[in-house]
Amino acid sequence: MNSAYIYETIGFGKVYIDKKLSKSIKNNVENVENKSQETLENHTSTTSELLQKLKAFYETCKDCKKCQLSEQRTQVVFGDGNPDSKVLFVGEAPGADEDVEGKPFVGKAGKLLTQELERVGLLRQRDYYITNVVKCRPPGNRTPEEQEMITCSYILKEEVKLIKPQLVIALGKTAAVGLSGVKQISPTKVRGGFISANLKSPILVPGTKIFVTYHPSYLLRNPNELKNFREDIMKIKTLIESLR
Ligand code: URA
Repeated sequence: MNSAYIYETIGFGKVYIDKKLSKSIKNNVENVENKSQETLENHTSTTSELLQKLKAFYETCKDCKKCQLSEQRTQVVFGDGNPDSKVLFVGEAPGADEDVEGKPFVGKAGKLLTQELERVGLLRQRDYYITNVVKCRPPGNRTPEEQEMITCSYILKEEVKLIKPQLVIALGKTAAVGLSGVKQISPTKVRGGFISANLKSPILVPGTKIFVTYHPSYLLRNPNELKNFREDIMKIKTLIESLR
């Protein structure tokens, strides 16, 4: 698929892509697709054990009714990707597409994020695991309430316990607040850098570092920030490479 077409369909208006850049993106995506297949075939037994453990845990929460979000959701949306990669992206909550498909970040915002990560060679099924602070879609895509985040935290806490991420990335303010326990966060100020979980974090050990970047939905509304987001993605790529 043509990259300009993807950006245009997600609302960036008319997009002109430099031919050389377009070719390099195409090569990267093809490379990534081939590698994806190889990587899936080469999944180690530890990865599948970890997946089994996650699946077994998810089974125990798929009928969760601990909060009011259960009343209007279609299904609980758990994480997706490679749990053995030690890289964990965390978003806010499922939207309408995720609620129907049962996977995180598959709608417009998710497609933008996936495409931006693939652009630098980072693949969901190989290089990271992705999930949300809250696992059920809030009605009308409203921001989850503090109490809903706290009630739901037992799921993300268990995901973190099993995955043992070495790099945690918060996508946007709600994820940054939910993960860190810090109430006042301005993503425009802290993006591209780390914040630390405090004693109130219901999910992470206090002091755990969290890299913060924009939520992709924010980029759909503010396409001028794509340049800064790409800088963050490059930092994330460098951090991931330093883990290997
Ligand atoms: N926004 C999120 O925060 N999470 C999703 O899964 C989709 C959109």
